[in-house]
Amino acid sequence: MKKVSVEEAWKRKYPEPVVLAVSVDAEGRANIISLGWSMCTSFEPPMMAISVGKTRYSHKLISECREFVVAFPSEEMAKEVLYCGTHSGREVDKFRETGLVAVPAKKVRPPLIEGCVANFECKVVGEIETGDHTIFVGEVVAAHVGEQKKRRLYNLGNYRLAGV
Ligand SMILES: Cc1cc2nc3c(=O)[nH]c(=O)nc-3n(C[C@H](O)[C@H](O)[C@H](O)COP(=O)(O)O)c2cc1C
Repeated sequence: MKKVSVEEAWKRKYPEPVVLAVSVDAEGRANIISLGWSMCTSFEPPMMAISVGKTRYSHKLISECREFVVAFPSEEMAKEVLYCGTHSGREVDKFRETGLVAVPAKKVRPPLIEGCVANFECKVVGEIETGDHTIFVGEVVAAHVGEQKKRRLYNLGNYRLAGV
């Protein structure tokens, strides 16, 4: 084995699944962030965790709203995922700019995203400070899948996304 920097070794982690996380502001305006850092963390009760940079607008929204939706984008959504991962909701309305369609959720205020492979409604039950990010742990209170089975979108590295 050759000793390298952490960043160099992390380049070997791809392909990495990508998720979209949806949050809302106090007026109910929804925002979407693209995330590589997410995981399922518990069967009973079902829980999922996402790691969000402290500078992200989504960090402020999730901290305040205490709810989020995790959506697994399908392989056709590469362009929209890149847009949501390179623009901030402080400046743009990502639903309007990408054409992604919001669908009302059953138990939380942030909406689901139509056309995704799966959507999970989460209520924040824990927060862990991890350096420049915060891990938000959410209890999954409702889950949805698309009518047709589609392939999920993965990050292959260097902003290249593809279905796997
Ligand atoms: C493929 C991909 C994966 C990303 N993964 C993360 C992540 O895990 N955590 C994070 O905080 N930002 C991640 N980002 C960056 C955010 O999506 C980006 O900063 C976004 O513009 C923040 O939007 P917001 O300010 O509206 O919240 C990722 C971006 C891309 C394109």
